[in-house]
Amino acid sequence: MRGGPVLAVDGPAAAGKGTLAKRLAAELNLPYLDTGLLYRAVGRLVLDAGQDPAAPAEDFARRLTADDTQRKDLRTQEVARAASLVAAQPAVRSALVDTQRRFAQARGGVLDGRDIGTAIFPDADVKLFITASPATRALRRFLQLGEDPAADDAKARLAEMEAALKARDAADAGREAAPMQVADDAVVIETDTLGADDVLAEALRVVRERLGAR
Ligand code: DC
Repeated sequence: MRGGPVLAVDGPAAAGKGTLAKRLAAELNLPYLDTGLLYRAVGRLVLDAGQDPAAPAEDFARRLTADDTQRKDLRTQEVARAASLVAAQPAVRSALVDTQRRFAQARGGVLDGRDIGTAIFPDADVKLFITASPATRALRRFLQLGEDPAADDAKARLAEMEAALKARDAADAGREAAPMQVADDAVVIETDTLGADDVLAEALRVVRERLGAR
């Protein structure tokens, strides 16, 4: 028995799932875990060691510490790419399963990632899949990173970001080990035309409906 409900928030990169999951956790007084940080931290360690992220990385995942996941340099594109590559390795994913399951054991939790509702918590109380078009996601990431939309190279930078997001989506959805996919019982929220407050309101409506119906 878990000590509280588990909410799975899955979806592609830069769809707004982190923002939503954090706000849901605060609203419902549940612990929050960004599972992407686990894979990013493994990717970072691999890069620091001068190793190719496509080479076996299980040892790095097994030795991961909480401090590794709190480093300030995990949000770069280089680390995202490395994270996606190590995340395709079944042995790396297995090494991180217990950490994620234990996280929600005492009080439940909100976890965001790619496979929370399909592989980590197939029995999650609520499953949300948050998505938006690649163009919308690239623009959000562009603005988040503080890039200047009036700069000469803004168009090229935006196109570059969209291409990188699409490549990562394809790798995350196309891998054999726990690929990113919509769980059968997930509710999909398309955020192209929604602001963060609207997404939260819609998610809370779904959560109350699902939790109330238990
Ligand atoms: O959510 P993010 O962009 O920080 O995740 C970085 C990479 O980690 C992502 O491209 C795929 C991988 N990942 C995963 O495979 N499973 C998760 N639950 C979370 C992230």
